[in-house]
Amino acid sequence: MKLIEVKDYQEMSQVAADYLLSKVKSSNQLTLGLATGGTPQGLYEALINDHKQNRTSYQHVSSFNLDEYIGLSGKHPNSYYHYMNDHLFKHIDIDSKNTHIPSGKAVDLEKECEAYDEKICLHGGIDLQILGIGSNGHIGFNEPGTSFDTNTHIVDLAQSTREANARYFDSMDEVPSQAITMGISSIMKSKEILLLVSGEAKQVAMKKLVEGEISEHFPASILNRHEHVTVIADKEALAMVKGLELLNR
Ligand code: PGA
Repeated sequence: MKLIEVKDYQEMSQVAADYLLSKVKSSNQLTLGLATGGTPQGLYEALINDHKQNRTSYQHVSSFNLDEYIGLSGKHPNSYYHYMNDHLFKHIDIDSKNTHIPSGKAVDLEKECEAYDEKICLHGGIDLQILGIGSNGHIGFNEPGTSFDTNTHIVDLAQSTREANARYFDSMDEVPSQAITMGISSIMKSKEILLLVSGEAKQVAMKKLVEGEISEHFPASILNRHEHVTVIADKEALAMVKGLELLNR
């Protein structure tokens, strides 16, 4: 893993945007893996600003999102379909036909999972996957205990994840209890991964990622086995990490 240490959330977002934009500009065809949540919002804002100012085009870009809540339609304001349109897609010139998010309302959810991995495969795999990390170490919605061998699958959300995401809902009861997520194996097949980590809430997760063992109890630890991971983390997130030299190895 390679570490880019930044001052704060704003710098993390801009550095991530510059990184992603260099790929967008230098490729004829690019498949991105995209994430939702609080972490990538600043990155998406920076991409939108760049699109307004420099007209960087996304006509040659396809995207696959990591996950979606089960039971929420795309129209629901808390669905990740809605999030992606609102925070990115409608502001840039990406073709909506090229954006992919698992459907949490599919009649046959198992089939939806299989079809999602097949679609990624047909696109030649993900070139650059954007990832955040849950404070419990989840990546996508792969909660602690998920097998490293999983493809896209249905998950029961951990209570801590539902609590962390409750801030977007009117009440805890409304937070879905299940989701579809790209599996750990699906994520690890990405050619390159960009992990964004910011803030105090991620200090323990960051420490475990760098200093802990590789274990299914801490899903993100598998990233230590990927050949091409860049972590962009701010000072606050890195505050508890003693062995910073363990990164950049
Ligand atoms: P956050 O979530 O970006 O909202 O902190 C990250 C995650 O759960 O993967």
